[in-house]
Amino acid sequence: MRLLLTGASGLLGGNFAAVAARAGHEVTGVVGTWSGTPIPGLARQLRLDLTDGAALTAVVRAARPEAIVNGAAMSELAQCDREPERSAVLNVELPRRLAELAAELGVRLVHVSSEQVFDGTRAPYRIGDAVAPLTLYGRQKAESERAVLAAAPGRAAVVRVPLLLGNSPGGRRSVHERLLRDWAEGRVARLFTDEIRQVCLADNLAAVLLELCAPAAPGGILHWAGAEPVSRYALGCAIARRFGFDPEQHIVATQLAGTPLAATRQADLSLDLRPLCELLATKPEPLAAQVARLGR
Ligand SMILES: NC(=O)c1ccc[n+]([C@@H]2O[C@H](COP(=O)([O-])OP(=O)(O)OC[C@H]3O[C@@H](n4cnc5c(N)ncnc54)[C@H](OP(=O)(O)O)[C@@H]3O)[C@@H](O)[C@H]2O)c1
Repeated sequence: MRLLLTGASGLLGGNFAAVAARAGHEVTGVVGTWSGTPIPGLARQLRLDLTDGAALTAVVRAARPEAIVNGAAMSELAQCDREPERSAVLNVELPRRLAELAAELGVRLVHVSSEQVFDGTRAPYRIGDAVAPLTLYGRQKAESERAVLAAAPGRAAVVRVPLLLGNSPGGRRSVHERLLRDWAEGRVARLFTDEIRQVCLADNLAAVLLELCAPAAPGGILHWAGAEPVSRYALGCAIARRFGFDPEQHIVATQLAGTPLAATRQADLSLDLRPLCELLATKPEPLAAQVARLGR
């Protein structure tokens, strides 16, 4: 298929480009500020400020994609708080516009939402559970879901995803990349034993998004994640062992509950993956399999 990918230089987008290219698809990828080497897997790499709606429209129409994958976002929670208007454009207006373009072209849009639409008190979350975001980013993601489904009814798949693992194009974006940097610079990581996430490797999610590009694939709101919930602390320990660091020396176990951070950091964001996990060839992966595939 001819695919248009936004966020091609991000953690997810970079993995999507590689996975889609390996499967024989032709991917046009949009990057923003990325100035590194060409993203592997892209047939064409375009630089575009996605807040420029007119330029976006022209690029999408010219690419004549058979499906659009939106991997672009302002995904740092603190940056969204600092830049509420720009984050609303990227996290809500961009997916809305992509959905309108998908409807105009008669193609699928696969949009990525987040576990952050939930408040963390009632896990595991099912698709129909009420959203209750704790942050501006979470509220924007919830709004993007409504906007996309309204603008491209029957053509959009909106996938809520968990904390992602993996190697990012810049090598500085993901959990293990940050931990390895901390440890290399002599810092100890303080990680919560009571903050539970059902982490997923970005290339596994990329394979899911690719399946969802097919015209007859499932649509609407969907959940995807890894096979098992894990605490931030347990995740950090698994990453430490994978790269030969002693967890006892490099990680301090600590508690989220009772700290001011608990107002915006959800305790448990485990997701119920039905029906997607029963419908796709790609399967959720256990943590050990994910961590084994992390590279430096
Ligand atoms: N990472 C996670 O743990 C996680 C968890 C749940 C949901 N998600 C969601 O998954 C999706 C992918 O996240 P990610 O972690 O891959 O994000 P990321 O690594 O932060 O990448 C964001 C991408 O968006 C692009 N972008 C941002 N602003 C842009 C602009 N104005 N113009 C053009 N491109 C722009 C960036 O391009 P440049 O870098 O080239 O500027 C980059 O390619 C997002 O929807 C995110 O909300 C991520």
